[in-house]
Amino acid sequence: MPEKNYDVVVIGGGPGGYVAAIRAAQLGFKTACVEMRKTLGGTCLNVGCIPSKALLTSSEKFDEARNHLASHGVKIGSVELDLTAMLANKDKVVKDNVSGVEFLFKKNKIDWLRGKGRLVSATEVAVEGEGGTEVVGAKNIIIATGSDVTPLPGLTIDEKRVVSSTGALELSEVPKRLAVIGGGVIGLELGSVWSRLGAEVTVIEFLDRILPGMDGEVSKQMQRILSKQGLSFRLGTKVTGAKAGKGAIALTVEPAQGGAAETVEAEVVLVAIGRRPYTDGLGLEAAGVEKDAKGRVKIDKHWRTNVPSIYAIGDVVEGPMLAHKAEDEGVAVAELIAGQHPHVNYDAVPSVVYTWPEVAQVGRTEEQLKAEGIQYKAGKFPFSANGRARALHMTDGFVKVLADARTDRVLGVHIIGANAGDLIAELGLAMEFGASSEDIARTCHAHPTLNEAVKEAALAVEGRALHI
Ligand code: FAD
Ligand code: NAI
Repeated sequence: MPEKNYDVVVIGGGPGGYVAAIRAAQLGFKTACVEMRKTLGGTCLNVGCIPSKALLTSSEKFDEARNHLASHGVKIGSVELDLTAMLANKDKVVKDNVSGVEFLFKKNKIDWLRGKGRLVSATEVAVEGEGGTEVVGAKNIIIATGSDVTPLPGLTIDEKRVVSSTGALELSEVPKRLAVIGGGVIGLELGSVWSRLGAEVTVIEFLDRILPGMDGEVSKQMQRILSKQGLSFRLGTKVTGAKAGKGAIALTVEPAQGGAAETVEAEVVLVAIGRRPYTDGLGLEAAGVEKDAKGRVKIDKHWRTNVPSIYAIGDVVEGPMLAHKAEDEGVAVAELIAGQHPHVNYDAVPSVVYTWPEVAQVGRTEEQLKAEGIQYKAGKFPFSANGRARALHMTDGFVKVLADARTDRVLGVHIIGANAGDLIAELGLAMEFGASSEDIARTCHAHPTLNEAVKEAALAVEGRALHI
């Protein structure tokens, strides 16, 4: 019998795990969270969402000062980059956030078991820490071990010249040329950061489009917008080899469907071709926990593995690899353990790309609706016709509302535009309440705001937008 026993032991202190731990503690459970990093917060706070958004914000400010403030009548002379200070700011933002989670653990009386967690049985977890191994008992175990970078065969990530997102968050100088392999979310966000800071960025994408999970029209327009910002794209292209020279790395690329090989040279190569579930050394076999065909921990629709006392959430299970999805699952599992009846509506999980302008979506794309044979109406409104966007000089992009042709229920919304990531919240709420496009169109929206474009797009579903 272990000496320490808990109601709930969470393995992994990322947004899925730490939120599950907080909710479990709120519900009165004796709770521990096992985390092997030196700080809490997981991928998201340490090397993901938070540091990338810090650099995106700082590089946006640099770009704004250099290229856009003059058009507002603000003269500031020459603008210089202090990369060391920019990186230090990012590190401080991370530090403040991760120590915030540690504070929340103390406040909620959650034990942080420092070390690597391994399942020993259905109710025991071994924690391998600096001082040795301790086995703790757990009535319920929540696996929240997240994900890790998918490697590209033939390219060794050294986090200096060939980097993953983690290395791309701390390059000590701006590379002259940056090759980004993968035109997904990480590629475009971190590609944008270094492009704004002066690198020539080439995005090499296997498919014939960027942002494959997003609405096709959004992908096309974003590619145009990012190209205008200076990023180059090689779509339908695969990397077949890499040779590191003294100064640059030479990537051999070929058309994805086969054809003549060419060379793309860059001082730094960012590998951003997706992430894979992380279960290394977790002892799934010892506890008899099954994985699915994609290597994720297999769960039922209540996040239960095949072992009744063990649950799994976040990036390590199916579904979009997003922090807010992991958090909502964390809350749901804690409530489930408490005998409640939680629900996560996967149809209303928003997704945001923090480029400039931002891209945001919730619900289904036009391609998905067509594939599912659902009749829909689309209403679209461009930011170029929105007064606030004009005042902000941020007129790129549009709002597109997709509504069921028969019932008018909103099925999906797609936005490219300034603050799209904030604008999408109203649509997530609308979808949670089963709103129709008419509900949004008849809701009074403050003037002058970017949100008025949302209302106008909803009006456009019935062909009655007012300002276009
Ligand atoms: P993780 O955050 O990966 O946390 C898992 C934790 O478990 C880690 O800290 C790990 O050390 C620990 N762990 C693993 N195994 C063990 C073990 N055996 N014992 C002890 N500890 C263990 N998502 C968004 O929603 N918005 C964004 O803007 C965004 N930006 C991103 C930017 C980048 C560069 C990256 C890489 C990701 C980004 N994501 C973003 C995705 C987001 O980070 C993940 O979806 C989220 O972190 C998943 O949370 P999680 O709790 O499932 O796993
Ligand atoms: P991704 O899945 O978004 O994009 C990977 C891209 O690489 C795809 O376009 C894919 O077609 C392409 N690709 C795959 N293999 C390739 C190859 N061999 N050669 C060239 N291209 C190839 O994955 P990414 O960008 O690595 O991000 C990982 C995860 O992190 C995502 O699932 C995302 O949800 C999450 N994330 C979320 C963010 C956000 O919410 N803003 C920001 C950053 C990451």
